[in-house]
Amino acid sequence: MKEINATITGVGGYVPDYVLTNDMLSKMVDTTDEWIMTRIGVKERRILNEEGLGTSYMARKAAKQLMKRTGAQPEEIDLVIVATSTPDYVFPSVASILCDKLGLKNAFAFDMSAACSGFLYLMETGASFIRSGRYKKVIIVGADKMSSITDYADRSSCPIFGDGAAAFMLEPTTEDVGILDSKLRTDGKGLPFLHMKAGGSVSPPSYFTVDNRMHYVYQEGRTVFKYAVSNMSDICEELAAKNKLTDDDITWIIPHQANMRIIDAVAHRMNVPKEKVMINIQRYGNTSAGTLPLCIWDYESKLKRGDNLIFTAFGAGFTWGAVYVKWGYDGQTAHEDEA
Ligand code: UT7
Repeated sequence: MKEINATITGVGGYVPDYVLTNDMLSKMVDTTDEWIMTRIGVKERRILNEEGLGTSYMARKAAKQLMKRTGAQPEEIDLVIVATSTPDYVFPSVASILCDKLGLKNAFAFDMSAACSGFLYLMETGASFIRSGRYKKVIIVGADKMSSITDYADRSSCPIFGDGAAAFMLEPTTEDVGILDSKLRTDGKGLPFLHMKAGGSVSPPSYFTVDNRMHYVYQEGRTVFKYAVSNMSDICEELAAKNKLTDDDITWIIPHQANMRIIDAVAHRMNVPKEKVMINIQRYGNTSAGTLPLCIWDYESKLKRGDNLIFTAFGAGFTWGAVYVKWGYDGQTAHEDEA
């Protein structure tokens, strides 16, 4: 009997309506559209600015669209895993809130914390549950409300981030498609260079932490940049070599959308032309765990069954890796009824 593998059977996504442009940002901090476009490549980003709404709101919208598109009924969902660094609450999990909002009656659910690599880790984790043979429909969601931890007085970080969420359905297959291989890494050496100083158990919220602006992303950009380029490029090359994929065999590279210069460098090292790289950083910025599935959400209509996809990401920790997927359906015809 052929082994069970996990394949992606659909994608759903959501970005908030509110658009924060570079011109608007240049009225808030000392920056310009030109600097942001040449150094980062973000033109605008979406912001969830309605009071009282958190990451679960976007995650729920993405998962709802996913369930509608895949025709999945609430009682059929076995498991929901959400990757996020910006949960609604420290506890309970975003995933638990989704179970209620989506009316799931037979699922268990939890959040995963792996910063910008969260969705990459989720693909392998979700696939493992499917491969066990005990789970038939697994929803994985990458969602972040980065605006809730972005310091809009810090010009070196505020142009980068945006808000958004997207989700995949994973289901069993015995055909030669799906999540075929991965190489995932964590070294723990990135803590000094990328973290949030307060709000956790080491430094709980206090007047001091608020007065000293310690509840925002802290990043030593140049160092993170260097590690992101080398680690993502190396691991993509290793994964391609392990699976005997030449540059011609790769249909798409889906890189984390942190900086256009990082994306270009990875594509260059992989010897893959820009037309084969999914890019939407200019419209959404870095939505952390949201970037990879939001790329698929945007490019789905171009995907064909049998396409070879390499996903790659890098984030706080440091965490990084690459996942090889053979795409399972023709995206062009996926939502013809959705006019
Ligand atoms: O998603 C998780 C992983 N994160 C990443 O992959 C992010 C990696 N890092 C980066 O993307 C880039 O390092 C940044 C976008 C964060 C910064 O770009 P950079 O080219 O590395 O700039 P820099 O920090 O080296 O700063 C260069 C100059 C500085 O001025 P001086 O000291 O040379 O006079 C900054 O003060 O650019 C200045 N600068 C700005 N100027 C105009 C920094 N931010 C801005 C700005 N507008 N927004």
